[in-house]
Amino acid sequence: MDKRHHGQVRAVAPATFDRQLLDINLSHDAGPPAVMGNDGGMRAHCGAESAKPVAEPSEPADPDGSAAPEHRRVTSFRTRRSTLTEKQQRTWDRLWPQLGTQARTEAGPAERLDTTAWFGRTAPVILEIGCGTGTSTLAMAQAEPDLDVVAAEVYKRGLAQLLCAIDREGVTNIRMVRGDGVEVLENMFAPGSLTGVRVFFPDPWPKSRHHKRRLLQPSTVALIADRLRPGGVLHAATDHAGYAEQIAEVGDAEPLLRRVPVAEQAGLPISVQRPTTKYESKAHHVGSAISELVWERR
Ligand SMILES: C[S@@+](CC[C@H](N)C(=O)[O-])C[C@H]1O[C@@H](n2cnc3c(N)ncnc32)[C@H](O)[C@@H]1O
Repeated sequence: MDKRHHGQVRAVAPATFDRQLLDINLSHDAGPPAVMGNDGGMRAHCGAESAKPVAEPSEPADPDGSAAPEHRRVTSFRTRRSTLTEKQQRTWDRLWPQLGTQARTEAGPAERLDTTAWFGRTAPVILEIGCGTGTSTLAMAQAEPDLDVVAAEVYKRGLAQLLCAIDREGVTNIRMVRGDGVEVLENMFAPGSLTGVRVFFPDPWPKSRHHKRRLLQPSTVALIADRLRPGGVLHAATDHAGYAEQIAEVGDAEPLLRRVPVAEQAGLPISVQRPTTKYESKAHHVGSAISELVWERR
């Protein structure tokens, strides 16, 4: 049954039309199950490569532990332990200097990105915030080779998994930023420079006292709208009904954004067809409906 409220709410279906459209066949259901974190987010266990983990202490809110106190604020993410396998560490050491960068270092926040230099071409740019282990990032970048994708994530092991997948698949249109996606928007992209912003399954922070930690607040949505070019797209997806309501209200209240009905979505400059991630499979398993919310910059 296809339920609808606020945005497009997808039916809970094991084999999605989306997957057929993307012509991908990812085995998201394989591997160990996801677990629920304190923030209400499902934690997908990443890194199928076995082998000895390379221990790393838990990740602080700013990945380098270098943020000055005035830069610390309520964040949408929580400290979590990150352990790379030896293979992930080797791939990280080899590829991160070319394909990854930090949102903040000891010297302060990163400067504006020169995406033309970084990707070696001029192409429309999409920012994905909170890419997790990068399942959607990889599949969507492969399906849209004419677009360049910057994936922001605080979770090092997720980025390491994406790096391994990029290496394995020979994908050339993904770059990564480790750190807070809000800082990435603030400091690394100019107003009007993005063709798309994707936020898939942001941590729902279900307890009322934690709602202030949700990523998609009015200020962040206003910042996203500012960084989009006219016609650029904000695409959010969530399996949390309460958060879906909040996102819908906040997006609809943002004067620079216009909600795009499903019938018009095929004409957008980026695809809104997503593969099913492990996280989403878990949501399907417990019967949650998925809300897809799409706006364009006026
Ligand atoms: C529930 S997971 C969803 C991951 C992925 N989008 C998916 O659909 O499988 C949310 C992810 O967002 C990341 N995250 C939360 N807040 C973030 C922020 N401000 N900047 C970057 N990443 C963030 C978390 O580390 C986590 O990996």
